[in-house]
Amino acid sequence: MRALVTGGTGRLGSAITERLRAEGWSVVAAGRADGDLADAQAAQDLVERAADELGGLDLLVNAAGEGFAPKPVEAVTEADWDAALGATAKGSFFVTQASARHLREAGGVVVMIEDVAAYQPWPAFAPHSAAKAAQAMLTRIFARALAPEVRVCGVAPGPVAADPGQEERRAGETLLGRVGSPADVADAVLYLAGAAFVTGSSLVVDGGRMLQTGPPREA
Ligand SMILES: NC(=O)c1ccc[n+]([C@@H]2O[C@H](COP(=O)([O-])OP(=O)(O)OC[C@H]3O[C@@H](n4cnc5c(N)ncnc54)[C@H](OP(=O)(O)O)[C@@H]3O)[C@@H](O)[C@H]2O)c1
Repeated sequence: MRALVTGGTGRLGSAITERLRAEGWSVVAAGRADGDLADAQAAQDLVERAADELGGLDLLVNAAGEGFAPKPVEAVTEADWDAALGATAKGSFFVTQASARHLREAGGVVVMIEDVAAYQPWPAFAPHSAAKAAQAMLTRIFARALAPEVRVCGVAPGPVAADPGQEERRAGETLLGRVGSPADVADAVLYLAGAAFVTGSSLVVDGGRMLQTGPPREA
């Protein structure tokens, strides 16, 4: 089985890559050095290189993203907006578009790595939340566009790779009272890769974060 993981050099992407390889998958794990996914042509080129190298594509995981930085709405700049939307929304779109013919041939799967921020308005992360909402909509759009040959699902993580020093605060935001790990997301990806009757839906992996009332106004 053959997979392309964008953001494969990141915290979540590397855990997903490691888990897939442990299960016998061949994986191309792409980082920024393999192409800037905010650029549509670079996104398409990456897919063609990966499909060539792997001899086809059974799974695409869109785990590239940037621009997760707290800022009041008054201070958001055009550069912040472009960074948040670039790899996450535009990149996920053009990588998936270019992968479609390979995935159709294989009867493959797409997994979008979303965020609970796609479903909750976080004022301190306006461009990030908006980009994640766009990406989460692409999960549903592509599920319809690529059916019935290709399934398209999402994983919406909560705090699974908290920054050092932030663990306690982030743990307090969950119902389970602890942060998760990138391996929790990798488990969900693996499940969805084999979940033959699941398409167009997203699995929330957040320790109950999304059920807490009142999204944080600040970091
Ligand atoms: N960490 C969490 O707790 C958490 C929670 C919810 C959702 N998420 C989502 O999960 C995804 C991955 O998060 P992460 O924590 O693993 O992030 P990360 O450690 O910062 O890794 C980001 C990855 O995306 C790549 N990337 C960034 N901008 C790119 C661009 N313009 N073109 C191509 N590749 C680019 C990076 O490549 P380089 O390594 O080359 O820079 C890296 O592989 C993101 O979409 C994030 O929003 C994360």
